Amino acid sequence: MKDVYILAIESSCDETSVSIVKNGTEDIATTINSQIDIHKKYGGVVPEIASRTHLENITIVIDETLKKSKMKIENIDAFACTYGPGLLGSLLIGLESAKTLSFIYNKPFIKVNHMMGHIYAANIGNKLEYPLIALVISGGHTDLILMKSENEFQYIGQTLDDAIGECYDKVARILKLPYPGGPNIERLAKSGNSTYKMPSILNDSSYNFSFSGIKSYINNLVHNEEQRGNKINKNNLASSFQETVTKLLVNKAKSAIINFKVKNLIVVGGVASNSYIREKLSEMSKEIDITMYVPDKKYCTDNATMIGAAAYVLYKDKKFSELSTNAKSLETLGG
Ligand code: KG4
Ligand code: ZN
Repeated sequence: MKDVYILAIESSCDETSVSIVKNGTEDIATTINSQIDIHKKYGGVVPEIASRTHLENITIVIDETLKKSKMKIENIDAFACTYGPGLLGSLLIGLESAKTLSFIYNKPFIKVNHMMGHIYAANIGNKLEYPLIALVISGGHTDLILMKSENEFQYIGQTLDDAIGECYDKVARILKLPYPGGPNIERLAKSGNSTYKMPSILNDSSYNFSFSGIKSYINNLVHNEEQRGNKINKNNLASSFQETVTKLLVNKAKSAIINFKVKNLIVVGGVASNSYIREKLSEMSKEIDITMYVPDKKYCTDNATMIGAAAYVLYKDKKFSELSTNAKSLETLGG
């Protein structure tokens, strides 16, 4: 097959990103316009502001990416975009842009599930080996997925309440750290010790996760200490929290790998950019002699390169989408 160049767009939350990806694995050019500074003052993403900002930025980000790639848009083979899950207004901006380009240049349009994008981030500069277990850890998801082959997803575990990234963000908010909380908790934890006793969380034989208990526990702990006039050691609390949730990830991933007899683990999603979590999962993988692959940090948090990588899998099977495709705020893999 000749080389395939896909222009992909990601706009499901607060990043406007465009990427040109060659053969699903090579990042030719990528631009990410992050809205973090805009949403920071509100302590979280404001959907209406997010979609308006995507609208202001999308054509600029497309132009900038094409310029960096030194490619002509006529040489793009397909246009891809995240259609869900995500914020409806934000998704629509990327989706309508990709569909319009596909119509104008008469090239296929490919809709991509955002979580499929996170998974195929592990194919960028790498080659996935199946069967594998994917541990998907992001702001909206904490999933264990068995992939027996390409584009085949079997959910084996999920969070019963909050997602891990959401929990990091909420604990950060309790500790009055700025948005987004995950990287700030990681930074504090680095110079802290695990001195706070944490509740044990869902250490059962299922592959499911639960994070709302530890979040409530920390909320009560901080509240009670403040009322007593005691000072919280934020570094130690961040470290205790991080150690507890990481143990849960490691234990659940390990039992899934052993019970499903797979030799490959991929860890993807925004939270996979956390160095401590990467290190602990890597230690476990060495201990049970399996291969772990975690994408480069820039491909863990939301980006369009991962959407281009996933779109290539669909392109190979000619799984093109209609220009009538709509955005879906809630969508599972394979939906
Ligand atoms: O995958 P992502 O960019 O967006 C979603 O699809 O949700 O993930 C964002 C989440 C946020 O909750 C953010 O706090 C978390 O990933 N995150 C981290 C780190 N970097 C981002 N959590 C822990 N440690 C990090 N270094
Ligand atoms: Zn994401």
